[in-house]
Amino acid sequence: MEGTRELNTGRTMPAMGLGTWYLTEDTAGTVEEALRLGYRMIDTAEDYGTQPGIGEALRRTDVPREEVFLVAKVEEDEDAYEATRANLDEMGQAYADLVVIHRPPDQGVGVELWRGLLRARDEGLARDIGVSNYSTGQIDALVDATGEVPAVNQIEWTPFGWSQEMLDYCRERRIVIQAYSPLTRAQRLDDERLERVAAAYDRTPAQVLLAWALRLGVAPLPKTNQRAHLVENLYALEFALDDAVMDALAQLNEHASALGSSLQYG
Ligand SMILES: NC(=O)c1ccc[n+]([C@@H]2O[C@H](COP(=O)([O-])OP(=O)(O)OC[C@H]3O[C@@H](n4cnc5c(N)ncnc54)[C@H](OP(=O)(O)O)[C@@H]3O)[C@@H](O)[C@H]2O)c1
Repeated sequence: MEGTRELNTGRTMPAMGLGTWYLTEDTAGTVEEALRLGYRMIDTAEDYGTQPGIGEALRRTDVPREEVFLVAKVEEDEDAYEATRANLDEMGQAYADLVVIHRPPDQGVGVELWRGLLRARDEGLARDIGVSNYSTGQIDALVDATGEVPAVNQIEWTPFGWSQEMLDYCRERRIVIQAYSPLTRAQRLDDERLERVAAAYDRTPAQVLLAWALRLGVAPLPKTNQRAHLVENLYALEFALDDAVMDALAQLNEHASALGSSLQYG
């Protein structure tokens, strides 16, 4: 799979990865197949229940470990350093390529969590560290407290829910946005405006959503259990939407979340 993203730490990350939330039916088999097809980034979290299967796939695959970019998460009520160790143990891995704080805690912005991840990074358990579901203000507060800028902010991101302010903020700081639920959890794939674009490019609505994120420099993490969808989603890397279509899709913004709430990034 082609396409990478430059991180603000100097390392690179694949432009697209496989999400694994609800990928519990045959996690190991699906992840192994994804790697065989060319996926090089796998996203997980302890509460997805996919860590053991991902570990199994990484042991079974012919793809060398150093070619895979493994993304793990720590929860807001955990000791981030210990949780990183526990997650790696569950996957049988010596390190993750990226560990993010899954979401900010109810109180504060997670400075202690961030310090735990800094320790995990310094001890080699995480190559890079980042955040997820953080607003621009929450990232500012974390950086003010520690002087350390996250490499990534993993947030929900589709034409129906995105933020110019967050895009500008992350571009200025060279924070890569990883897009979760980039396919709207399949809720908006039948949107007529999306279908018209897909027909014009002879692609599918899912591919158009991924191509839109990719051209913005965002790194989408589509999840699928199905081999045909694994292939279809990968082929979103093979074409580019033109400027007018990018703008038209951006206009679909309703600040809507597929998880039911309204997106707040500011
Ligand atoms: N950091 C966070 O807080 C957070 C939150 C949510 C998600 N995530 C991450 O982001 C990943 C992706 O988000 P998501 O799982 O919420 O949703 P998503 O990737 O937007 O959508 C997944 C849904 O789309 C379907 N699908 C996949 N490819 C398709 C295609 N080509 N055509 C039609 N339908 C297709 C899947 O069904 P099939 O399986 O049947 O193909 C599934 O129902 C997660 O798996 C997880 O790794 C992170």
